[in-house]
Amino acid sequence: MAEKQDAISLLKQDHREAEELFEQFEKATGDGRKQKIAEQVCLELSVHTAIEEEIFYPACEGKVEEDMLKEAYVEHDGAKVLIAEILKGGPDDEFYDSKVKVLSEEIEHHVKEEEKRMEGIFAQARKAGLDMDALGEQLAARKAELTEQYKKSGVPTPKLTTMETTSV
Ligand SMILES: [Fe+2]
Ligand SMILES: [Fe+2]
Repeated sequence: MAEKQDAISLLKQDHREAEELFEQFEKATGDGRKQKIAEQVCLELSVHTAIEEEIFYPACEGKVEEDMLKEAYVEHDGAKVLIAEILKGGPDDEFYDSKVKVLSEEIEHHVKEEEKRMEGIFAQARKAGLDMDALGEQLAARKAELTEQYKKSGVPTPKLTTMETTSV
């Protein structure tokens, strides 16, 4: 087990891992390898968006600019749609690589909104005095639980929080 992390360093570490996997995907050759990396990043991002939506974002309610939080939920839903598409498909699909690429670009934008210095979601949450140690423990526990579950039974059909279309 990793040593205890506060909420922000845990979430940032997830971001760095996703970026690393997207980079590996770009460099990978061979369909099997590409699919393995894509599935790994989809699993990790599914866990990440879930723990943010279950634990971190609700804790930010009333402490972080409402518009930013709402946009974050919509961005998550956009990512979930692409993730579901990628998991359903495979490298033979005409648009497979493009979907992974667009997902990485969307995530890059989203991560910037979360991590932006001074005014990002994390910075605002820190400034508002959220208990990052306690949240970090909750996030880590839920992350471990969901990771195991998704590895065992696959990533479930995503729940869309903000869309009229509620499933993919
Ligand atoms: Fe995040
Ligand atoms: Fe997020």
